Amino acid sequence: MAELTTSWLGMRLESPLVVAASPLSHDAEAIGAAVAAGAGAVVLYSLFEEDLTEELAAPRPSGAGLDPYLRQIEMLRQQVAVPVVASLNGTTPGGWTKYARSLEAAGASALELNLYEVAASPEHSGAELEFRQVDVVSAVVSAVEVPVTVKISPFYSSVPAFVRRLEEVGARGVTVFNRFYQPDISLDTLQVDRRVAPSTPAELPLRLHALALLSPFAKLSLGCSGGVHSGRDAAKAILCGAHVVQLASVLLERGPGYVGVMREELSGWLDSKKMVSCEGVRGKLGFGFTADAHAWERLNYTRTLHAGLPPGGGRPAGG
Ligand SMILES: Cc1cc2nc3c(=O)[nH]c(=O)nc-3n(C[C@H](O)[C@H](O)[C@H](O)COP(=O)(O)O)c2cc1C
Repeated sequence: MAELTTSWLGMRLESPLVVAASPLSHDAEAIGAAVAAGAGAVVLYSLFEEDLTEELAAPRPSGAGLDPYLRQIEMLRQQVAVPVVASLNGTTPGGWTKYARSLEAAGASALELNLYEVAASPEHSGAELEFRQVDVVSAVVSAVEVPVTVKISPFYSSVPAFVRRLEEVGARGVTVFNRFYQPDISLDTLQVDRRVAPSTPAELPLRLHALALLSPFAKLSLGCSGGVHSGRDAAKAILCGAHVVQLASVLLERGPGYVGVMREELSGWLDSKKMVSCEGVRGKLGFGFTADAHAWERLNYTRTLHAGLPPGGGRPAGG
């Protein structure tokens, strides 16, 4: 049976299958089930600074807020034997560091910073936004002892250059990619439809491509989030360089115990390829084999376009 252990943010995990930040972490029983089925770590839903500021103005009876979040960290740390990673989404530099310290003090094994910033103004260049984000990460890294990983969007001119800067300021990991909220429009009501749709595996290739670009040079840990719905999807991400895959939609749809099915699939695939461990295959399909990733990219692009669509339009049978 293949070895599934992996390293992530300097921690040893029993499995690369990690519960992603999502409402699942509100439910201690669900988290217990995911860990019993083989999850290697758990990321909590994000603590949003705006919620806390509003809370100061008008205390809310709901489970949201800083104290319930800190209690959830403490409780999960006692309940499960895997790392519990807190997720923070701040707005002000002071807020990011203050709350990061609170999460660490409550026992978080590591922090994931959920960088969610939409470039919505023509007044600010991409470079300005990126400098601000790197400053935030740098400040948080200096404020806490635990490892810090950063969940980023795909919308940077150069994801590799941005990741290099995160590495330089001390981030121990990066997760590609968070899924931006993409509201639809109802043509009947002329309203914005704000429902969050679950992901599909069609979202995975964007992540695989980024991982393959990052893995040859990145010294930090790589996490894959978005479109991992099976053990075979996890295997693809690991081949491209992921240390962990983070699972949200698949567990919300199929239940936390589905981690066990994915674990079996992943180890079955490794066995079928006569591979003894995840670590042994990690990054095998990264871009490390070529000195000129840019030229290789262009070659792949032109080849793909020249090949055209396969018979049937390229859709999977029944899809
Ligand atoms: C209902 C829901 C809530 C989420 N809440 C958070 C959150 O609080 N913080 C965060 O960083 N990501 C959050 N995410 C994003 C997931 O962690 C994950 O990055 C994204 O859904 C892509 O992974 P998936 O394809 O496995 O769903 C949420 C996703 C869903 C579906």
